[in-house]
Amino acid sequence: MNLNHIRDQIIGVDIEVPCLDGQKRKYVYLDNAASTPAFKSVLNCIRDFLPYYSGVHRGTGFKSLLSTELFDSAHEIAGKFVNANLKNNTVIFVKNTTEAVNKLAARLGLERDDIVITTMMEHHSNDLPWRKFAKVIHVKTDSMGYLDLNHLEDLIKKHYRDIKLVAISGASNITGYINPIYQIAKLAHGYGIKIFVDAAQLIPHRRFDVLPDESDEHIDFVAFSAHKMYAPFGTGVLIGPNQFFEKGDPDIVGGGVVEIVTLDEVYWTHPPFKEEAGSPNVIGGVALARAILQLQEFSMDYIADHEKKLLEYTYNKLKKIPDIELYGDTNNLANKVGVIPFNIKNMHHALTASILSFEGGIGVRNGCFCAHPYVKHLLKLSQDEEFQLISQIQNGDKSNLPGMVRASFGCYNNEDDVDRFVQMLERIVKNDYQGKYILNQHTGTYTVQGFDINLKEYFPFHPGKTSYDGKHYPESA
Ligand SMILES: Cc1ncc(COP(=O)(O)O)c(C=O)c1O
Repeated sequence: MNLNHIRDQIIGVDIEVPCLDGQKRKYVYLDNAASTPAFKSVLNCIRDFLPYYSGVHRGTGFKSLLSTELFDSAHEIAGKFVNANLKNNTVIFVKNTTEAVNKLAARLGLERDDIVITTMMEHHSNDLPWRKFAKVIHVKTDSMGYLDLNHLEDLIKKHYRDIKLVAISGASNITGYINPIYQIAKLAHGYGIKIFVDAAQLIPHRRFDVLPDESDEHIDFVAFSAHKMYAPFGTGVLIGPNQFFEKGDPDIVGGGVVEIVTLDEVYWTHPPFKEEAGSPNVIGGVALARAILQLQEFSMDYIADHEKKLLEYTYNKLKKIPDIELYGDTNNLANKVGVIPFNIKNMHHALTASILSFEGGIGVRNGCFCAHPYVKHLLKLSQDEEFQLISQIQNGDKSNLPGMVRASFGCYNNEDDVDRFVQMLERIVKNDYQGKYILNQHTGTYTVQGFDINLKEYFPFHPGKTSYDGKHYPESA
């Protein structure tokens, strides 16, 4: 395997984008923690499959049978990817990780006094769904942002009778830290508590194994998203015990979830169908399965190794730039996926991100990344500052929104990408940028004077035109 082979698979890897100086630059995409680009093999698979595409399950035509076969196999491929025992566990396709967590929260049968343990470092998707149904206790993080495992243990010892689940991220979308999920699983299981791992940020970067059901380190439930795995066609996955999903009513009801319905009664069918109400996203499922096969062909070990080296390469360079503030642990990188949170001293995070984009052709993300408590903790924001902020935001002023800039890698990023990123940061810290940037108080974002790209014209939806690289082709091409 070599990196060029991986880059060849990335749709749009050579796309050029317009910059403020009138030049076009090859786009450097460093926002893979949000969503990755798609693999060509995924697109080709979908293109080849579409002539046969049909609604699945209960259709008797050839296309329906074929589509059903593919869609069902996609579930199996997703389950095997995390080494789930598919005799005892079911693979449920949903829309994304957020929907998976919401489903699990709704299906746990939680009562208001039940406790779900989650952590300070979670994406809101692995926090707010639990708050909706139960009492949530957050495990603290230390000053570096690492999980406080002693606190977790204390909480479990104190509350184990009421704890219904420990819900924890496999890897943080802010610091990239990989949590000791097996150690935590063992601890929770020791008290008869099940564990859920939000693997949205881990699975694209490391080999992931739920371990055998009988292992005390087994991961009981896991969720992940295809759009972070080079298959952005709207599928997410939730895997958990068959027995669990056999019990109770599904969270969403309608077509496809029943064995038989009378005017008075409903007899549910079995998972996963019971949990996939309505016509499923067949294309999304097939796309995910093809992406998994592609990742396996590249080898998850190769990807992990490459991303680790790239992370080290980047930190070595970033540490040499004065006025760059790096958050979290920047020395122990082995247990960290390729996510780099930073700021430039005395510069608004949104301004840094905008200059990188408008003048460097570099796509990053800024803000609090749907993990407000964790980002505020890493920024060491006081409670007073937090209260002030809330009042400003409620008054429609987002100009002081706290936050960071985040650069995040996919398996295809290379040293050239990092060099372009670093060079641009070196210029920014020296104030060597051209634009006059204007803060929009209501949105907390910056625009730059004299740079008015009409995005609608750049990529028109006109009938008869289709393009993914800015060129326009007749539909027949
Ligand atoms: C750790 C983590 N969990 C959950 C999510 C939510 O994923 P999705 O937006 O696919 O539902 C994200 C998204 O960035 C994430 O990083």
